[in-house]
Amino acid sequence: MLKHLGLRQHLALAAAITTALALPVLSASAQAIHFDATTHVFRIDTPGETYAFGVNAQSEIQTIYWGSPLAAADPLPTPAAYRSLSGMEESTNITPYEYRAWGGLNFTEPAVKINFPDGNRDLVLHYVSHKIDGDRLTITTKDISREVFVDLIYTVDPATGVIGRNSIITNKTKEKLTIEQAASATWNLPHGTDYQLSYLSGRWAAEWQLTQEQIKDGTTVLESRRGSTGQQNNPWFAITRANSSGPHPEFPTNEEVGQVWFGALAWSGSWRINVERNQVHDIHVTGGYNPFDFAYPLAPGQKLETPVFYAGYSSHGIGEASRIFHRFEISQILPQKPTPKLRPVIYNSWEATEMAVDYPGQAALAEKAARIGVERFIMDDGWFGQRKDDHAGLGDWYVNQKKFPNGLKPLIDKVHALNMDFGLWVEPEMVNPNSDLYRAHPDWVLNMTGRPRSEGRNQLMLNLARKDVRAYVFNFLDKILTDNDIAFLKWDYNRQWSEPGWPELGPDSDKQKTVYVEYIRNLYSILAELRTKHPKVEIQSCSSGGGRVDLGILGYTDEVWPSDNTDPFDRLSIQDGFTYAYTPQVMTAWVTDSPNWANDRSTSVAYRFLSSMQGGLGVGANLNKWTDADFATAKDLIAAYKTIRQTVQQGSLYRLINPRNGSDHSATESVSTDLHQAVLFTFLKSSTQRYPYPRVYLKGLDPAKQYKVTPMYGTLKKDTPETASGAYWMNHGLDPDLTGDFKAAAFKFEVR
Ligand code: GLA
Repeated sequence: MLKHLGLRQHLALAAAITTALALPVLSASAQAIHFDATTHVFRIDTPGETYAFGVNAQSEIQTIYWGSPLAAADPLPTPAAYRSLSGMEESTNITPYEYRAWGGLNFTEPAVKINFPDGNRDLVLHYVSHKIDGDRLTITTKDISREVFVDLIYTVDPATGVIGRNSIITNKTKEKLTIEQAASATWNLPHGTDYQLSYLSGRWAAEWQLTQEQIKDGTTVLESRRGSTGQQNNPWFAITRANSSGPHPEFPTNEEVGQVWFGALAWSGSWRINVERNQVHDIHVTGGYNPFDFAYPLAPGQKLETPVFYAGYSSHGIGEASRIFHRFEISQILPQKPTPKLRPVIYNSWEATEMAVDYPGQAALAEKAARIGVERFIMDDGWFGQRKDDHAGLGDWYVNQKKFPNGLKPLIDKVHALNMDFGLWVEPEMVNPNSDLYRAHPDWVLNMTGRPRSEGRNQLMLNLARKDVRAYVFNFLDKILTDNDIAFLKWDYNRQWSEPGWPELGPDSDKQKTVYVEYIRNLYSILAELRTKHPKVEIQSCSSGGGRVDLGILGYTDEVWPSDNTDPFDRLSIQDGFTYAYTPQVMTAWVTDSPNWANDRSTSVAYRFLSSMQGGLGVGANLNKWTDADFATAKDLIAAYKTIRQTVQQGSLYRLINPRNGSDHSATESVSTDLHQAVLFTFLKSSTQRYPYPRVYLKGLDPAKQYKVTPMYGTLKKDTPETASGAYWMNHGLDPDLTGDFKAAAFKFEVR
């Protein structure tokens, strides 16, 4: 019936059914979402930002404002569609819509595009109604003539100001239609120039490289077409704008200065984020399912929901943007939200033994790991099927009898007796052609009938979208966790999709491309079901290093493996990039052997520890080769780490000196949420020409409190006071006494 009403009547009806509408729009209520029934403007207000959009006279939903908080009484009139520049540049093409359909006079990137069975492809969405339910707003829009509805959903985390947006497309026509493009949301930035884009890209062993560049006319496409998140681009962006007090003329926004709009997609399949600067220099960021090779048929009554695209705002630089996102991830995303457990100190066998695992070898490593204070022992690849190398075994999830004649129990018991819990490596979505599973079910893999099945790392992908495959994967994992006392799974994923066909569908072959969505949904549902059935089990997302890190998988996994590159110096820039988007709470880091396999670089045990202590600390070295002195240093630093890990993992991170761009120095600081403790890590690549280490200025302390400094490793210049105010450490600063090559020092500051 709503479609027969005029706009004002829609709004009046919505007002009548939505309790929140009864509130004066700009009341002092704690409610973050408000609607003004007179102006038709929605307003989201949090302590750090205001986001406003409204319904214009054409019934289109249009962004009005996104930035620092506005006063409650500030006028926000009904948005007016942009004025056409000329007959050649119509207003529909340049107006900043919240969710743009492909149809009408629209040439900018659409969020949604639909193909109807009669060949019609025009879609124009108009406001119908809305509902505010606490911190969630649902706006229903509908095509101007067809029964196609798109719900736009907004959720707000009032504490951090992070807004989640996605859409649900519903086919209420009588015929099947096909969605050819479905984004979650478009974020429109305030009109202006001088914006810079930051994004993360990389490859195996070189993830999390930060690029920062000026946004010019045209489109920058960040994406994965690989079926999963990928190492090449991460689905995160930040856009910064110059501030008059910015310190650097070429890149005026720094860690603590300037406005930042940032966001990330919660999706672990193929994805795309377009950053578009249009012909009037407005910036639109549109993200969601990657339209490449995408087609999602909807029968009458069916829906498609898009992943959530989260975004936030900071008026104090990209450092604060990261801290906002870290807090949001810890309190709103992680499976143990809002207070996830601290990450235990772990040992992982991969670099020590690779696939040559057996009881005596693992037991010997476990004994040594326990001696230095490790809390969790994880056996990596090699324990199952006929696994000797990466040519065989994936898919056959029974214990290899030659390596473990009495099963896993003796090793797990041994690990428990050493007062550690036990973790195990699995790679559930994969199969080697040389496996019993593949010989029995060659049809279970992604493939296109009659075409080659390309292998990556000698393995094929199981098609998790199939019901039987989903059941197999869930059941074997459930059995492992039921039969054994296991605290942790390292869930690995070591190749990307190729030939992503789903021959089983047969007559339903128009659903072939839904595999991109259904696969990931089943992945999430397996993880969710396992967690419900085995609530004590924690899970790591690993994908040849950091190939599957996103806000989607982080809803089901407690930590991630940022990179296979464990060189402690390379790791500094990898970790630095990682923290722009993701919290140190999930950032596992291992101390491995020296020289490191990645670069043949030699570093001290202490340097390696200090590099890894900036996240969830682990040891992945071959402890059989360590000297007594190595064990002693490790034991001391692990004990020291346990006194600061809450601050490192869950406190506020300040990137004081960046390790990028060939810098010889880098420093990070973490401050506990109560400001009672801070930890400083400093690293020196190489001293030159007798220059001293740069003075370090702490941030985020309570200026009035007295903090005592204690070295965890290394020394400060002799004249450094033992105790001084937060103001002193932040304004006067301190001088680490670091000289030489690949040296590091770390200091703890505690309120007296
Ligand atoms: C991937 C992971 C490594 C290790 C190996 C095992 O490369 O990233 O950490 O688990 O697989 O095969």
